[in-house]
Amino acid sequence: MSSAGARPSALRGGLAIRGVSHSFDDRRAVDDVHLDIGAGELVCLVGPSGCGKTTLLRLSAGLVTLQQGTIEIDGSIVAAVGHSVPPEARGVGLVFQDYALFPHLDVAGNVGFGLIGLSASERAARIDAILHQVNMVEYRNAWPHQLSGGQQQRIALARALAPRPRVMLLDEPFSGLDTRLRALIRDDTLHVLKENGVATLMVTHDAEEAMFMADRIVLMNRGRIEQAGKPVEVYGKPASAFVARFFGEVNELRGIVRNRSVATPFGLVSADGHAEAATVEIVIRPEALKLAPANGAAAGEGQCVAKVMAARLLGRSSWIHLDIGGPSGHGETAHAQHFHARVPGSFLPAENEMLSVSLDPAQAFVFAPPDSS
Ligand SMILES: Nc1ncnc2c1ncn2[C@@H]1O[C@H](COP(=O)(O)OP(=O)(O)OP(=O)(O)O)[C@@H](O)[C@H]1O
Ligand SMILES: [Mg+2]
Repeated sequence: MSSAGARPSALRGGLAIRGVSHSFDDRRAVDDVHLDIGAGELVCLVGPSGCGKTTLLRLSAGLVTLQQGTIEIDGSIVAAVGHSVPPEARGVGLVFQDYALFPHLDVAGNVGFGLIGLSASERAARIDAILHQVNMVEYRNAWPHQLSGGQQQRIALARALAPRPRVMLLDEPFSGLDTRLRALIRDDTLHVLKENGVATLMVTHDAEEAMFMADRIVLMNRGRIEQAGKPVEVYGKPASAFVARFFGEVNELRGIVRNRSVATPFGLVSADGHAEAATVEIVIRPEALKLAPANGAAAGEGQCVAKVMAARLLGRSSWIHLDIGGPSGHGETAHAQHFHARVPGSFLPAENEMLSVSLDPAQAFVFAPPDSS
């Protein structure tokens, strides 16, 4: 790539998506997305089905013609309106869910496919080095149909990384694998991507996978970025109920702001930044509810006594269905009687047991209701 095409403001060694929008017919699939990914950085793109994740990846790869905005790789514009560097010249490695291996080539042939301009010995050395990284050296001469799903995915990753791309684009690369294999392969993939120092944009449906893999999580909703940040920021300070819900089922209730707080059955939660007397949505993570045997005692300040409707051991955690009684006695807070709590798996109360419930305010979030903005 010529240095004349580089701009000093552009991101060196990485991917920069600037003001990109895309419509299919009249339907907007990607809406004014801005995203910079630095060399060696791994960004997970998450969001509900149809929110535009694959379209954004395909635009970055050059598989879809750009309609609006620009895409830069390593400081050079690879796509702008009326300008498109072909996919094979962009320096991107692709691993798509349905990106099958070439059946007529063995493992070495697949991995070496994109290696051009190398001598035979350089090519063989590069193939061996990358197969070593993905722990598949002994399968060098195997055929794709002789490999398990997990092994095929390792080879697809090796094939994408072999030509030393500057940017890796992965679209749900582990979704065809069972839970155990998935955990193993994503761990290996994370280390291989980091070793190679490549800028990575990876799509996943799975919140836990995104937390595991990502330096930064980008959550899309209807073609737009709803929130972007480090996992700890997106999880700990969700910008909306939509973001909070993405990380798993939550308890939701409504309340009215009084003296910069809102009442919940489990005590007051700060509603700073919301107007006095405004109706707000309160999202409480199941992990936020702290449970202890009530031992016949009445609920203390900031506590609530609840009856266990059901308790299920899930392994590391237990999932507790709680009945907190009728909505009367909790002032203006309209809430369901039924709450869910997730507690360490060592705690498994009996049905009908009475528990005292208190709240970790760091896992309770207050938002303006969606119709008020
Ligand atoms: N080739 C296409 N022609 C017409 N519409 C398309 C095309 N590709 C995607 N769309 C539409 O664009 C929107 C975004 O699709 P996209 O595949 O990017 O979603 P996604 O976030 O990857 O979803 P999923 O999680 O289900 O893979 C959807 O409404 C989809 O129907
Ligand atoms: Mg998709």
